[in-house]
Amino acid sequence: MLSLWVYMLYCCVGYCSTTPAFMLDERSGRIPPPRPLQNQELEMLFKTRSRGLLNNESYPESRGDGWEENEADTIYDEDSGLTGALNGSETKKLPQAIIIGVKKGGTRALLEFLRLHPDIRAVGAEPHFFDRNYEKGLEWYRELMPKTFEGQLTMEKTPSYFVTKEVPGRIHAMSKDTKLIVVVRDPVTRAISDYTQTSSKKPDIPSFECLTFKNITANLIDTSWSAVQIGMYARHLEQWLQFFPLDQFLFVSGERLISDPAGEMARVQHFLGLRRVVTRKHFHFNPAKGFPCLKRLESNSKPHCLGKTKGRTHPNIHPDVIQRLRDFYKPFNKKFYHITGHDFGWD
Ligand SMILES: *[C@@H]1O[C@H](CO)[C@@H](O)[C@H](O)[C@H]1NC(C)=O
Ligand SMILES: *[C@@H]1O[C@H](CO)[C@@H](O)[C@H](O)[C@H]1NC(C)=O
Ligand SMILES: *[C@@H]1O[C@H](CO)[C@@H](O)[C@H](O)[C@H]1NC(C)=O
Repeated sequence: MLSLWVYMLYCCVGYCSTTPAFMLDERSGRIPPPRPLQNQELEMLFKTRSRGLLNNESYPESRGDGWEENEADTIYDEDSGLTGALNGSETKKLPQAIIIGVKKGGTRALLEFLRLHPDIRAVGAEPHFFDRNYEKGLEWYRELMPKTFEGQLTMEKTPSYFVTKEVPGRIHAMSKDTKLIVVVRDPVTRAISDYTQTSSKKPDIPSFECLTFKNITANLIDTSWSAVQIGMYARHLEQWLQFFPLDQFLFVSGERLISDPAGEMARVQHFLGLRRVVTRKHFHFNPAKGFPCLKRLESNSKPHCLGKTKGRTHPNIHPDVIQRLRDFYKPFNKKFYHITGHDFGWD
């Protein structure tokens, strides 16, 4: 026990201090131009995607989990092709609803589930308009959107919006009526999942323990490290509430989205003012993976599974570190439950 702490200390003093904390901008955010897809291509995409969402069997620790967000986002732009029938009444509109967060919370899963709804058209890639591409202007943003019929909702998701200070004011300037969806998940498991994803891309980053603490003896948690900072949900939400009333937000439980997708999707569809089309029949639970699979009822495509292979775990993190992180988040969670009026059950 003692030696473990000495090791951690050594590692933290010796290494972490020279390594810059990796921040929110990990992805290039490049967006492919919309292009109609042939059925065959579409099938290929689905196959590629499914692989991307699964763990790599031979390198169990090297991949993310079922909340994988980024892996395949940029190759996915189905909408322009799927319903590509020319119809003069189709136009590109700015999104009326946006999934604004959070990274590793389950935003990819939610977007995939929403795509099953005929009244929703969503951008597949993350546009990062309000945080990284704002200077390109609203017309650039609108151009990224899929064409929609009257009555269809246009949506996008960019999980970094929730934690970027400038974004609430910018979305408000576009439309003060924008509906905002936040998928949240236990901040401790979220942080670990975030770290796991990053370390799979950059295997030589310092350990989770090192990055978590500024000074482990003083129990000083590094709140500037993005993996820690993103989970301080109450703090981020307060920024948003300066621009939008609470009833314009829907907080989706990332845990329930996996354990009861149909139930959580009922809430989402209600919030968006949509018919309840996505229901139990769209999901079947894959016990081997511990994650739900999607069925596109209208097509013959194989079910598309989200997923973590059962038994795969995140890197071994000392239980004491996890406990300290739990204690750290407790007041933030409590405040978040209080503001949203919903106990997410993380404590
Ligand atoms: C798993 O990862 C290894 C190393 O990155 C790679 O060589 C192998 O092809 C991967 N397997 C699959 C199924 O992706
Ligand atoms: C175009 O879309 C509208 C609204 O859904 C529909 O009423 C109309 O029949 C469509 N026209 C064609 C040519 O498909
Ligand atoms: C860490 O905290 C301990 C106890 O408060 C203190 O004695 C030590 O100087 C701190 N180390 C650094 C590098 O700040």
